[in-house]
This record gives sequence, structure tokens and C-alpha cells, in this order.
Amino acid sequence: MKLPNHIAIILDGNGRWAKNKGMPRSYGHVVGCDNLEKMCNTICEMGVRYLTVYAFSTENWKRSQEEIKVLMNLFRRYLKRCERSAKKNQMRVKIIGDPGGLEPDIQRSICELEDMSRDYDKMFFQIALNYGGRDEILRAVTRLAEDARQGKVPEGKVSEETFDSYLDTAGIPDPDLLIRTSGEQRLSNFLLWQLAYTEFYFTDVPWPAFDKKELAKAIEKYNERDRRYGGVKGQKPEEGASCL
Ligand code: IPE
Ligand code: IPE
Ligand code: MG
Repeated sequence: MKLPNHIAIILDGNGRWAKNKGMPRSYGHVVGCDNLEKMCNTICEMGVRYLTVYAFSTENWKRSQEEIKVLMNLFRRYLKRCERSAKKNQMRVKIIGDPGGLEPDIQRSICELEDMSRDYDKMFFQIALNYGGRDEILRAVTRLAEDARQGKVPEGKVSEETFDSYLDTAGIPDPDLLIRTSGEQRLSNFLLWQLAYTEFYFTDVPWPAFDKKELAKAIEKYNERDRRYGGVKGQKPEEGASCL
């Protein structure tokens, strides 16, 4: 069984899972948050090098003030607890997204967590908070344009490598496997550039119930995929071939 080098997960379905149990949505978020800690450890123990999770989107501000407050308080607690997992798993943690939109104390916790874990290299854990794929691309383009004005970018066509280096995920390889829990089959603005050749796996299981067994199923399906990247199996690209 081949292990994906980078797994990305859209953590979806906390609210519906709780509702089905006759509980408030906030209960789903609490259990979902505990499950993230557990699954992050599991994924690290399996030997996966990169894990990126979608925890709060730039569109999630449309939710009620009450739900946003619950989520922000959970992130506060989670970011503190994550220092322990980072140490235990020798894992570097990075928050992707626009931290500017978050409360100052959360921004401070993010800096502390990134700082304390910066030398760990067994696993690389990215948490998308106040993240939107379009927002990330626009922030990257804005910085790139500014650097170009100052002559810091090679003239002419911008290369994929240069553009990559302006994204929040700079230096992180693209995901091999994307998992979305809870039945929805859409990206909801997650990693729009990075998922170009990623394998997608959708499951009806809601995030709070997604466990090691469900993960094993996803990896099994991933192993059945034939990744061609636009080529044809058995054919070698012609030397100097192009579309012209
Ligand atoms: C995922 O669960 C957590 C966040 C988006 C913050 P949801 O809150 O989206 O749960 P459902 O999809 O409404 O069930
Ligand atoms: C995507 O889930 C965002 C996160 C999981 C953080 P949503 O629940 O916000 O997505 P939609 O609204 O169903 O597309
Ligand atoms: Mg949802």
C-alpha cells in the first residue's frame, strides 16, 4: 500500500452530525476538534509527511455570531493544545489563510505555535484558518506585483515556481489525496491552485465520526487510482515536444 505524501482534508459535517444526535451544532464542533487532535496523531504515526486541514473558510464569517464565537474559542484552545502534539510528533505547524482577520490573541497564539515548532521536521501540519483559495491567490498576486515593481522578480512570464513561492503553502508539495467528509462534493474555495492534480475522495461519514478505519478506506481507494498527469501510461514524452 502506497502512502500519500500529502493528505488534505476538508473537515465537514460537524453541525449535521450533532443535529442528528439532537445536540446543538457547537457540540459537533467540540467533538470535531477533539477528533482533529486524534487523527493528526494517527496520521503522523502512519508516517504521512504532510497534512493540511480546512478548519475555517473566508466564507464561514457568514455564520451566526454565536457559532463564530464558539469556533474561535475552540481554535484558541486547540492552538494551545497543538503545542503539545507538535512536540510529541516532532511536527512543524503552519497556519495558512489571512491571520489579519482573526482576533489579536489568536494571531499571537499562531505566532507562538509556529515559532515553537519551526525546527521540527518529522511531519508538516498546515491548518487553514480564515482561508480562501481565491483570497490566497489574490494576496499572492498583490505581493508578486509589488515585488515586480521593485525589480525583485525576473522579467517576463511568471513561472509556476515563482507563483508557488508567493502562496501561503510555499515550499509545501501539492496534496496527493484530498478527503472531504460528510457528503458534499465540492471544494468550497480550498487550495484552488494546489489541487490541480490531486486525487479526490468523498465520503458520507461526517468529520466527528471519521476515524482510522475510514482513513484506511480512503488510502485504499487512493491506491486504486491511476495518476497520469495528462500523459499516457507507457509513453515517454518526446524530446523537445510542445504544442506547436
Ligand atoms: C465543519 O462543519 C466545520 C466548519 C466549517 C467550521 P460544519 O460546521 O460545516 O458542519 P455542517 O456541514 O453544517 O454539518
Ligand atoms: C468548508 O465547509 C469549509 C470548512 C470545512 C472549513 P463549509 O461547510 O463551510 O462549506 P459549504 O458551505 O458546505 O460549501
Ligand atoms: Mg459544512
